[in-house]
Amino acid sequence: MRNLCIVGLQWGDEGKGKIVDFYADRFEGVVRYNGGSNAGHTIVIGGRMFVFHLLPSGYLKKKKLLIGPGVALDPLTLDGELQLVRNEGGEADLLIDERCTLVTPFEKQMDAFIETLRGENALGTTKRGIGPSYAMRALRLTPRAGDLVNGTFDMDAAISFYKTFMKDLPDLGPWKEESRKVLAGRTGNVGESIMAMNEAGHSVLFEGAQGVLLDLVYGTYPYVTGAHTIANYVPAGLGIPNTSLGDVMGVAKAYTTRVGGGPFPTEILGETGEKIRTEGKEYGATTGRPRRVGWLDLVGLKYAVRLNGVSELALTKLDILAKVKEMKVCIAYSIDGEETSNFSRALPKLAAAKPVYMDMPSFFGVELREHQLPGPAQNLVEFLENELKVKVTLVSMGEERSATMKRHA
Ligand code: IMP
Ligand code: MG
Repeated sequence: MRNLCIVGLQWGDEGKGKIVDFYADRFEGVVRYNGGSNAGHTIVIGGRMFVFHLLPSGYLKKKKLLIGPGVALDPLTLDGELQLVRNEGGEADLLIDERCTLVTPFEKQMDAFIETLRGENALGTTKRGIGPSYAMRALRLTPRAGDLVNGTFDMDAAISFYKTFMKDLPDLGPWKEESRKVLAGRTGNVGESIMAMNEAGHSVLFEGAQGVLLDLVYGTYPYVTGAHTIANYVPAGLGIPNTSLGDVMGVAKAYTTRVGGGPFPTEILGETGEKIRTEGKEYGATTGRPRRVGWLDLVGLKYAVRLNGVSELALTKLDILAKVKEMKVCIAYSIDGEETSNFSRALPKLAAAKPVYMDMPSFFGVELREHQLPGPAQNLVEFLENELKVKVTLVSMGEERSATMKRHA
């Protein structure tokens, strides 16, 4: 069996964690390849909610867990998650790549500092230090996970740099000591480990964080995260050959959400938006912020499917649409009187884009039962398959693990 990448096709929070959990059984390991503790992956089992920020969502299926070099690693956040797991009587089988970029308290401070400098144009970051950590890596100032464990940790130049614009830097000593303990015995070479699993005939699942439209280069810059979010980044983010990427499953919510600032053409303001937010529990899993809510945007989806080479789709949260009377899908944008359905072309002027909607049969009041797709839902699925030219192989109609339906073998 081939490896599989699960990637978010919108602005994150598409329900990737749930899909990873659903599929994990078939795989030997689950691997994070990008982002950091800005992610919040929520899984509900038997009414209990689990939220992971750094630990791959395959934990609940007792899989081998790997955190690749493309991840910005905050050892203390990871420690918190490992403690939670231990309190449950569990133990995570975790390998962290030595080359992971570290997030120290300084990068978090810098994240908050830059947001303040931006004033009204703040990005609305999660303040988890993700952007600064990748930036410090590009400046070759930040140490890596392996440096902490191997005794080659040196932040002297970084601290001199920070002192030029930040006051009252805390002593890094205690952080360093604690972090070293978290990482000790857990670091190694993730790419090599994946290749060995593949060579032994086992496949792995790549768990994406955030979504395509938050990609540092291909998203809605500057309102993006500090890393690549696209599936194309898997081989580079993990140190494995391109041929090991395998299949790409795109995850899209049946509507759209976005946390933080930036253009959002299909945003719904007012009562319907509020209803979807409440029913869909659309509050950030990392920061608790209310998520902005909008209709499904086919223009963005087409772009994301094409760019990532998506081979199949998972559509999530269809049940939430049964709580609202309207049902729309955006099929094009109108920008300065011109219509386009080409997202790349629209990107530079996305803030001025007015959505062109197609009304769809409403889901209102329809009962979504396990293993049955009622008319309006079937209609939406077929519409998306026709437009996007990929099969919708999974449909999720509730937060429970059991409310995920397979459509094709
Ligand atoms: P950062 O990743 O903390 O730098 O935040 C940059 C932007 O990405 C902000 O708009 C965040 O709200 C958004 N963001 C980062 N991580 C996630 C996520 O996991 N889900 C949704 N939005 C995210
Ligand atoms: Mg999330």
